[in-house]
Amino acid sequence: MSIPNMNSLRCFYTRANSLLLLRSSFSPVTIPVRRLSSVFDSLSNQTVSSISDVDTKTQASPGAISSRGEDKPEEKHRKAAGSSSARGWDPGEVVMNKKKGKVRTSWVCESCGHSEGQWWGSCRACNKVGTMRRFSEGSSEPRASGGGVASGGGSEGAGLAWLPEQGVAQPLKLSSVIDGITHQQWRISLPGLFGNEVGRVLGGGLAPGSLILIGGDPGIGKSTLLLQIASIIADGNDLAKPAPVLYVSGEESVDQIGSRADRMKIETDELYLFSSSDLQDILTKAHRLSPRALIIDSIQTVYLKEVTGSAGGLTQVKECTSTLLRFAKKSNVPVFLVGHVTKAGDIAGPRVLEHIVDVVLYMEGEEHSTYRLLRSVKNRFGSTDELGVFEMSQAGLEVVSNPSGIYLSQQNTDSDVLAGLAVAVVMDGSRSFLIEVQALCATGSTVSRHVNGVQASRADMIIAVLMKQAGLRIQESGIFLNVANGMALSETAGDLAIAAAICSSFLEFPIPHGVAFIGEIGLGGEIRTVPRMEKRVSTVAKLGFTKCVVPKSVEKSLKSLGLKEIEIIGCKNLKELINSVFRG
Ligand code: TYD
Ligand code: MG
Repeated sequence: MSIPNMNSLRCFYTRANSLLLLRSSFSPVTIPVRRLSSVFDSLSNQTVSSISDVDTKTQASPGAISSRGEDKPEEKHRKAAGSSSARGWDPGEVVMNKKKGKVRTSWVCESCGHSEGQWWGSCRACNKVGTMRRFSEGSSEPRASGGGVASGGGSEGAGLAWLPEQGVAQPLKLSSVIDGITHQQWRISLPGLFGNEVGRVLGGGLAPGSLILIGGDPGIGKSTLLLQIASIIADGNDLAKPAPVLYVSGEESVDQIGSRADRMKIETDELYLFSSSDLQDILTKAHRLSPRALIIDSIQTVYLKEVTGSAGGLTQVKECTSTLLRFAKKSNVPVFLVGHVTKAGDIAGPRVLEHIVDVVLYMEGEEHSTYRLLRSVKNRFGSTDELGVFEMSQAGLEVVSNPSGIYLSQQNTDSDVLAGLAVAVVMDGSRSFLIEVQALCATGSTVSRHVNGVQASRADMIIAVLMKQAGLRIQESGIFLNVANGMALSETAGDLAIAAAICSSFLEFPIPHGVAFIGEIGLGGEIRTVPRMEKRVSTVAKLGFTKCVVPKSVEKSLKSLGLKEIEIIGCKNLKELINSVFRG
């Protein structure tokens, strides 16, 4: 049996970083936004002359924009920016309100986002050493840093002069706001099997004006996922008419994206592709196009000219994300961001990125598996317990409607007859995942105990409790414990799986497919509850497990969750565990 391995592919980190360094030295070039269909044409004809880019279209027929009920953007910009052109700004420019000589420097922890006025060897919030990075704030405005960003305030200094002014906001009654939301059918629904699966992870569709970050290892399928999401939104089946969606890539050329879309049989007419790293340019184009959704692939490749530092650096990532947040909130256009993952498993760049955005989704999968899990780790608009299961096929990501196939088919086909294997459910931050514990009880072994991936003292305690409280005569056996795939099991939630694996090997009674174990073992042999039981159980249920052994004390509340696919077996102590699992 194998595990969805969140720590795989970290070796690509260095490669991804060096790519970013290369990319940051690119000079900005003005490249037109291209409709997907024109990219297809150019790919098949290998000629660029037939391309109708959006800029040309806008100039040739102003109706293209005025039909959307808006002013000609240049005029609007001039009105909004006032004397800006006199100061040498282009209309539509993203402006940093800098005051000379007032650049404030702070030190921000790369790991947790904590901010300090001076450098410290270690972060005073999370105690990590060497994670404090210099952060020069280009703005003279007083600005919340670190935790302040968590409020979603973003960069006060980055003003989007051309964005429509919202007027003076007035306090509103909750009831009138809720009425407005229900009447508007507030969320953008994503139709179809694939759309439903993504919509569920997002908390029931796409919230307008939301900023969504999608993290994951390189090559896991983030760009593929977003291209598919873009095509669903652009198809506009929920609106019964297509609507423009802008897909911006700082990593791939429009031809590369086009050929991928061709392979995935995406033929949406209203999908616009744009290859650029200049965020000001991107947002100007986005404003002109007035899309239904904007996709930025990736946040580490975009930069703001006014901000110091190279693309992908702490300052750029923070400022660009804040600017995109302001764009999303002001224009009500949902914005998707791709974020690379560091070798520690966090989204590269500062942790503050996760504070700023509304939704954080992680895409996970094993190195050699085609299955992909889409997990929500932060969601201002819904639950974070949802999990989307997909399979990467020749034509992109396909929904796996029966995930039992996935996890169980990856198991060793002999595991029905192999004793000593048990599955634990552990949490990594807010993510839950499965770990396979293996035990071997060998009589006459010269080694009395050998433990791999489990804390030796914890293993000793569980073995002693099994002997004393469950009456298991394992003292004459050499006991070997191992956690598959080189993972480490540090949570006490894995105690029950360790005990079950030892019992299984000792009693030579294989644990059938689809049984997971969650619980901590006390010295009296009692099985205790652990935090976030519901989340753990819903993960195993979603992954197709049929039985989950849990502490008796939480059996009732877990059964009331109404997870039909999974049978909850409550056990008070180790004797009950042996009676319910190992009596055949
Ligand atoms: P990609 O979306 O580029 O990953 P990311 O943006 O996270 O780096 O996906 C790249 C991988 O997906 C690549 O190894 C090829 C595979 N793939 C398929 O198997 N089928 C497909 O239809 C597509 C588009 C990609
Ligand atoms: Mg990509």
